[in-house]
Amino acid sequence: MYPSMRSSVTASISLCFLSLFSLSAFARPATFLQDFQVTWSDSHIRQIDGGRAIQLVLDQNSGCGFSSKHKYLFGRVSMKIKLIPGDSAGTVTAFYMNSDTDTVRDELDFEFLGNRTGQPYTVQTNIYARGQGNREQRVNLWFDPAADFHTYTILWNHHHIVFYVDDVPIRLYKNNEAKGIPYPKLQPMGVFSTLWEADDWATRGGLEKINWSKAPFYAYYKDFDIEGCSVPGPANCASSTNNWWEGTAYQALNALEYRRYKWVRMNHMIYDYCSDRSRFPKPPPECVAGL
Ligand SMILES: *[C@@H]1O[C@H](CO)[C@@H](O)[C@H](O)[C@H]1NC(C)=O
Ligand SMILES: *[C@@H]1O[C@H](CO)[C@@H](O)[C@H](O)[C@H]1NC(C)=O
Repeated sequence: MYPSMRSSVTASISLCFLSLFSLSAFARPATFLQDFQVTWSDSHIRQIDGGRAIQLVLDQNSGCGFSSKHKYLFGRVSMKIKLIPGDSAGTVTAFYMNSDTDTVRDELDFEFLGNRTGQPYTVQTNIYARGQGNREQRVNLWFDPAADFHTYTILWNHHHIVFYVDDVPIRLYKNNEAKGIPYPKLQPMGVFSTLWEADDWATRGGLEKINWSKAPFYAYYKDFDIEGCSVPGPANCASSTNNWWEGTAYQALNALEYRRYKWVRMNHMIYDYCSDRSRFPKPPPECVAGL
């Protein structure tokens, strides 16, 4: 609703106060350019809604990518994503945190693998800790992630790493350093996203190829929210137990979250490296029950 001509001056003054107020009262979510920069193919990332949302484009010329301007050591990152609709087979949309180091890499991955129209999107997650990855899990989404925006979140604190789809934890990796299991905690990580073509492996193991006659493909992102200790930044931030993401409510899944987590594992998980005996005749230590 627009103010009438007569009151437009007062209206714009009060609107101005209003936006000043909301800026300080609700500092998050941020606009794209506050926290992020384009890293790959400027022409394929379009800002919309005054920079509060973006459109990522994949066509035969290029995919695209962006990254956070800063790195973070512990915190919570979330964004709302609306994936490519219809025939998205062969496309991969990724949202991940990465230490950006070659040898001793830490990485927390969400990868959305497209599919033929009507077939479910697969979310693959992976965790690299102190240079070692190979911890893939796959879940088929129980809704159409292209019909609407959904929130995808990575929580990373001293106690565990949790991947959430909306309010549902789909992946949990506990800090079991005491049992000799590597946990990412020394290196800050940046936040990254990419949209690209990977039809040699993404959909049904590479059987389903991308249909370029459907291009360009579009994915949408909004509500960028990074809360964590930025590095460089105050040196004592990451170890402070006062950070909200280290609080009691975030140290373990609550009963409801745990039920949801079990539900996903029972009904929607299609692959778990922990039970892949051809790759791991002896299950990796973090997979052993009770950890
Ligand atoms: C695509 O759909 C097929 C058939 O329903 C399913 O087996 C597969 O897990 C889905 N996801 C991918 C990435 O192939
Ligand atoms: C690719 O898309 C075109 C146009 O919609 C369609 O006619 C064709 O059958 C599709 N090819 C495959 C392999 O799905």
